[in-house]
Amino acid sequence: MFGFWKTWKALEARGIMGINRRNADYVLKYNKRSLYPIVDDKIITKERALAAGIHVPEMYGVISTEKEIDKLDEIIGGRSDFVIKPAQGAGGDGILVVADRFEGRYRTVSGKIISHEEIEHQISSILTGLYSLGGHRDRALIEYRVVPDQIFKSISYEGVPDIRIIVLMGYPVMAMLRLPTRQSGGKANLHQGAIGVGVDLATGLTLRGTWLNNIITKHPDTTNAVDGVQLPNWDGFMKLAAGCYELCGLGYIGVDMVLDQEKGPLILELNARPGLNIQIANDCGLTLRTHAVEARLEALNAAGVTETPEERVKFVQEMFGHIPPVEG
Ligand SMILES: Nc1ncnc2c1ncn2[C@@H]1O[C@H](COP(=O)(O)OP(=O)(O)O)[C@@H](O)[C@H]1O
Ligand SMILES: [Mg+2]
Repeated sequence: MFGFWKTWKALEARGIMGINRRNADYVLKYNKRSLYPIVDDKIITKERALAAGIHVPEMYGVISTEKEIDKLDEIIGGRSDFVIKPAQGAGGDGILVVADRFEGRYRTVSGKIISHEEIEHQISSILTGLYSLGGHRDRALIEYRVVPDQIFKSISYEGVPDIRIIVLMGYPVMAMLRLPTRQSGGKANLHQGAIGVGVDLATGLTLRGTWLNNIITKHPDTTNAVDGVQLPNWDGFMKLAAGCYELCGLGYIGVDMVLDQEKGPLILELNARPGLNIQIANDCGLTLRTHAVEARLEALNAAGVTETPEERVKFVQEMFGHIPPVEG
């Protein structure tokens, strides 16, 4: 992992944020403990988002007890694709993405055939807390399976890519596109083996890619370049992310979004302790940007004004966006 340390060291001079600083100066300072359940429980996040008119994957049902597992058939109805996940899970663990039915069984997005009993067993594991944050009892959530927009076909292997934006007090500070690989089993979580690609805040153009903390240029499965890709509806994603501050009240969050083929941008989840690898994919330290936002907030505060999500997006795009190359 020498390459990784070299990259990290080089970034240190450019305001890289380490885990201690993140926890002390951002997570603890800006995230009120009492608000954690809103982001730590995906069912509560969904309810909040719906109330605020923010689009999320439709929830088909919730299973809270062993006895309720009998309701599974009823919840799925006649559908042939759906997702089952632990309400308090993290890192992609315990998530089952069913893409199809096959001869009385189901086919997962990575091609594995599983029986109804296996799904019931998975739900039972979720309920006992196998995947939940503190290991305490959890609920299983059954929801709409997102079908990714065609744009991602050439740079993604099965599954759904997601867009992560770190938001400080409603100001987006850094963005990353996460692409599933064969290794990540259709999930866009970096430590499952997904690729992280930096995104220019101003234009939505992808920057460089990182895979398992190494810098890469091509998707390992599709062999297509991951940089220079224009994400559609970029300002829509930026506004959606900025508005999540009003939605949850937490000042330092990672907002995870997806682009559904039919339903457009959707919020997948919010994270109160967003990871730091986003800095490698953007070749830029977070503190350079968080300090600029904090200075902005101080100035606005002194003047007694606040900014709307649109104004906040404009500020960060002008401040942190890459300068387009000058012709000639
Ligand atoms: N409704 C869904 N449809 C399709 N894929 C999904 C869905 N929900 C999650 N996934 C896949 O699983 C990954 C992890 O899901 P997420 O809800 O963010 O949970 P976690 O907290 O474990 O990261 C996503 O990045 C995505 O690739
Ligand atoms: Mg996630």
